[in-house]
Amino acid sequence: MSKFADWLNDRFPAREMMREHMTEYYAPKNFNILYYTGSLLLFMFFLQLISGFLLMAHYVPTSQDAFNSVQGIMYDTKWGWLIRYMHVDGVSLIFVLLYLHIGRGMLYGSYRRPRELLWIIGYVIYILMMGEAFFGYILPFGNLSYWAGQVITSILHAIPFIGPGLTTLARGGPGIGTATLERFLALHTVLWFLMLVAMILMHILALHQVGSNNPDGIEIKALKGPDGHPLDGIPFHPYYTVKDIFGVAVWLTIFAAIIFYAPTMHGVFLERTTFFRANPMVGLPDVTPPWYLAPYYAMLRAVPNKYWGIGLMALAIVLPFFLPWLDRNPVHSSRYRPVYRAMIILMAVVFFTLAWVGEQPPLPKYFFIERLGAAIYIGFYVLLPIVSSIEPTRKVPERVQA
Ligand code: HEM
Repeated sequence: MSKFADWLNDRFPAREMMREHMTEYYAPKNFNILYYTGSLLLFMFFLQLISGFLLMAHYVPTSQDAFNSVQGIMYDTKWGWLIRYMHVDGVSLIFVLLYLHIGRGMLYGSYRRPRELLWIIGYVIYILMMGEAFFGYILPFGNLSYWAGQVITSILHAIPFIGPGLTTLARGGPGIGTATLERFLALHTVLWFLMLVAMILMHILALHQVGSNNPDGIEIKALKGPDGHPLDGIPFHPYYTVKDIFGVAVWLTIFAAIIFYAPTMHGVFLERTTFFRANPMVGLPDVTPPWYLAPYYAMLRAVPNKYWGIGLMALAIVLPFFLPWLDRNPVHSSRYRPVYRAMIILMAVVFFTLAWVGEQPPLPKYFFIERLGAAIYIGFYVLLPIVSSIEPTRKVPERVQA
């Protein structure tokens, strides 16, 4: 074995990579359950690649056959239902993990110096994921796919001057059809997917450049022992590799339970209208996006004017990019910032309330919730520079807490 390792190492820097990124990479010793999310996201992304590849073997991207080919996968292909549900439920679970991952970053101030770029790359991944999910959503060509494709591509129409041309370009013609499916499939499986892979690699490289933050928000690199290693750090391998494998095992159990017992999650992970063939003659009373995009849709609807609504939604999506510079408090973790912690909890409640309301029909009784939610969401970012400069903080300990 060691002979082979020597042979390999003379030709490929395997040992150095292992040392630099695993055995000699020191991570804080106080990681909590939220620190499983990164490795679980990597794992789920890999599973999407495998299940997506298998789906591709049977999928036909034409308006005539797309729906039938997906039903064929579900009913006539051995284990096809399992592969399809892995892929469909995998998307929702990736967004569950993404929201926990982003929320964790906000709770512990992981976006602060020196991790600004790590945060920005992460947020680009999140935006790319939204696009990747949207392209995938259209492919099965159920009736919801058709109308969601119409609604979302028509948002492009609102862009001044180039809007109408851009909409036709995105659709591949005046309406949603075979040309749309072909280009969305190409984007979903090649261009967008490769951009995601590249950004995830950059995310991990940036993380290893600056090192992980932790629930206390204390820089472990500031306090090193005589051997030059952080006193509050432990080698990633074997400690965290073993811990992450345990996390994957528990997560797989949850994933399997969902696929076997509630694969559509009562219409939340896979809507009822996706089980009917796309039909331009049968409109849907209310086309709502999947739950993970619904908060933004609710904000779009909060404004009666289409252009201002789209503007508000775009603002809501880009604001988190600026978080590293909007937060001015020298203390990073919300553990020692009660006011900031309360603000984040309120934000989480508002975000998921907006997700719920975004799934409701556009009735006047929901307008107030949509507007209040949008105002609190935007207000968080507007007020943060002021609040973070004056808020009282607790004393931060010298060393990380066990
Ligand atoms: C598929 C998407 C993503 C993958 C595979 C991924 C992967 C990872 C991994 C493996 C880690 C280290 C382990 C951990 O801290 O949990 C990490 C940390 C981090 N990620 Fe992500 N990530 C993704 C998306 C995002 C997004 C959307 C953001 C933010 C908007 C983000 C921001 C961060 C930050 C700030 C850290 C450092 C956290 C800390 O040290 O406290 N990531 N990510």
